[in-house]
Amino acid sequence: MSDKKKAPEHVAIIMDGNGRWAQMRHRPRLVGHHAGAKRVREVVRACPDLGVKYLTIFAFSTENWKRTQTEVAGLMKLFKRYIRREAENLLEEGVRVRFIGDRVKLEPALVDLMDGLELLTADNDKVHLTIALNYGGRDEVARAARRLAHDVEMGNLNPRDVCDETFPKYLDTHVLPDPDLVIRTSGEARISNFLLWQSAYSEYEFIDTLWPDFTSDVFAEVVDRFGVRERRFGAVPV
Ligand code: IPE
Ligand code: IPE
Ligand code: MG
Repeated sequence: MSDKKKAPEHVAIIMDGNGRWAQMRHRPRLVGHHAGAKRVREVVRACPDLGVKYLTIFAFSTENWKRTQTEVAGLMKLFKRYIRREAENLLEEGVRVRFIGDRVKLEPALVDLMDGLELLTADNDKVHLTIALNYGGRDEVARAARRLAHDVEMGNLNPRDVCDETFPKYLDTHVLPDPDLVIRTSGEARISNFLLWQSAYSEYEFIDTLWPDFTSDVFAEVVDRFGVRERRFGAVPV
């Protein structure tokens, strides 16, 4: 088992590779997304034992609308199904769920389910699961800047008080600590617009495993490796 003292408090995951997983099996891409959704449950459940308090997962990016209408519609249906099916389990397992991203473009039925799940699990504190849905780091920063400008316009904020400590209060993630570890599956070594501001000092793990193959054992291995890393935050180690 992992050493809890060295465990990353906040792990963020770019869940990539569902399409390739399905392709390898000559199945439609959506089959991969369904297999991926199953892993989410397993990974969330593994968090308490690994000492991970916050888990943030990238489910749909602001760029993913560029995919075929069939895939986008299938994903939206899957998100609704996931929330309906998992709500009670998440509640019982002590998971508090939050969503980040722009909800404006999402269908009202999905937004209602998202709001409902946030409300249902609001008193939980064992694991904090944040699902990034229609999320883009640049979009989030731009929306934050818009809200900040509005506060200045209303006389609620002095431009002189805008700094790297006040600005993140306007981000979707304002209640969360920054991620200690960001994992991307499927072998791609890029961040694809995920948590741009928040991951400034995160450790990164790019692993070849495709998301539907990311078992709790693989998760435990990656979390273990984090324990031996030396984080410096710009300082010289003493
Ligand atoms: C990640 O898997 C899931 C989403 C982006 C919704 P992909 O669908 O990107 O899988 P690949 O990268 O095509 O294999
Ligand atoms: C990132 O994966 C988004 C999610 C995992 C939701 P993509 O598959 O969309 O990223 P790119 O297009 O390969 O950069
Ligand atoms: Mg991909």
